[in-house]
Amino acid sequence: MRVRGGPATVTGSPGSQTPPPDVSRRDAADGKSAAGRGPPGEERRLSAQHEQYLVGLDLSGRRVVVVGGGQVAQRRVARLIGAGAVVEVVSPAVTPAVEGMASAREITWTARAYTDGDLDGAWYAIAATDDPQVNAAVGTEAERRRVFCVRADDGAAGTAVTPATGGFDGLTVGVLARGAHRRSAAVRTALVEALQAGVVNDAAEAPLPGVALVGGGPGDPELITVRGRRLLSRAEVVVADRLGPRDLIDELSPDVEVIDASKIPYGRAMAQQRINELLVEHARAGRFVVRLKGGDPFVYGRGFEEVLACAEAGVPVTVVPGITSAFAAPAVAGVPVSHRGVAHEIVVVSGHVAPDDPRSLTDWEALGRMRGTIVLMMAVERIGAFADALVRYGRPADTPVVVVQDATTRIQRRVRATLADIEQVAKAHDVSPPAIVVIGPVAGLGDDLPEL
Ligand SMILES: C[S@@+](CC[C@H](N)C(=O)[O-])C[C@H]1O[C@@H](n2cnc3c(N)ncnc32)[C@H](O)[C@@H]1O
Repeated sequence: MRVRGGPATVTGSPGSQTPPPDVSRRDAADGKSAAGRGPPGEERRLSAQHEQYLVGLDLSGRRVVVVGGGQVAQRRVARLIGAGAVVEVVSPAVTPAVEGMASAREITWTARAYTDGDLDGAWYAIAATDDPQVNAAVGTEAERRRVFCVRADDGAAGTAVTPATGGFDGLTVGVLARGAHRRSAAVRTALVEALQAGVVNDAAEAPLPGVALVGGGPGDPELITVRGRRLLSRAEVVVADRLGPRDLIDELSPDVEVIDASKIPYGRAMAQQRINELLVEHARAGRFVVRLKGGDPFVYGRGFEEVLACAEAGVPVTVVPGITSAFAAPAVAGVPVSHRGVAHEIVVVSGHVAPDDPRSLTDWEALGRMRGTIVLMMAVERIGAFADALVRYGRPADTPVVVVQDATTRIQRRVRATLADIEQVAKAHDVSPPAIVVIGPVAGLGDDLPEL
């Protein structure tokens, strides 16, 4: 940790500072308020008559001083680091996150209260303590040094304000609303979402030809990653699975060619080969192809076969991980796959073949011996055989089981049972794929809680 200055004196919250002695200092040369350039005692107010001037600062390699180490400072510092600024935080105490940034040498933390002179050499300053007098003193020094300064406590008293900002594919969106923070944040969020969804055409170049293997998450269109959504909005061809965020397909522009991979004919292996061929053919024809898969592409998704096919054909491929249903389904059904003092291991198992199938690569004896959580995928059809194997190899018959069907979709449902009766319960409730089966003590937790 790069910590400059004397020992930290913690007074109140991380944002608090002891007011320095020169808080009410006046500019002796002209007898005017240093902050105001007006008569003594008159405080300068930003934006009383004029619009604020929105500008993009190049802070790369430039010194920025943040006075205060609380939540506001924390939020600003993260973005300043992203802008390449040389950030110094001056505060007797800081949040754990800011301390972590200092430990990682992303910023310098000077662990003491602000004193006049701290803005020496700064290009930009943020006064973010919880003491208005200290913030005013920082503003006064900034004005004297001609350094733009944001007052976190009183935006209009500073010489700069922080816009609500958001990013999308190399764009930075900034919104100012004359201090109406909720309004600027709402407009920013709406703009970024519109860009992500492709509702606003930002006329960016389509990505270079190639394939993006995008994990679409378990089904809810809001559970795709931001990167996945962005690439989808740029796609010229989309090869989509039966599972995953199908609603997003509907939002694609009409000129996007959508290939339904679940309808590709022939047997399973043949269909996969055809999918591989399609990815390669379209990419070679100069198109940007998104292969939209359910969950995560590499969790029982055959995604790596598609990566290999593209690599062999010399087609560039990008992998965008997704939220796997193995963990999303239990989560939304109120079942934690791990819990302190309950489960120290989680094993995700394919139920594609039965335990006694010679093709099975699963060590059912070991699964029977373990005490932690087993998550079964593709297991509905043979649920009885899996439960029997686990009990045969040592798991107690009363081990709790939860089945989550169609997780994160409108028809999601949860069924509870034990290893002893899961086969009958699943039949009685007409459980059908897609479903995730969670086995172990975690499946018995919170059974009085509603689905989340
Ligand atoms: C071929 S695997 C694909 C898994 C996917 N790659 C993932 O990470 O979620 C299909 C299995 O995933 C599970 N699955 C996928 N989506 C699901 C959902 N929305 N609810 C419950 N299970 C789901 C089911 O076990 C289904 O049989």
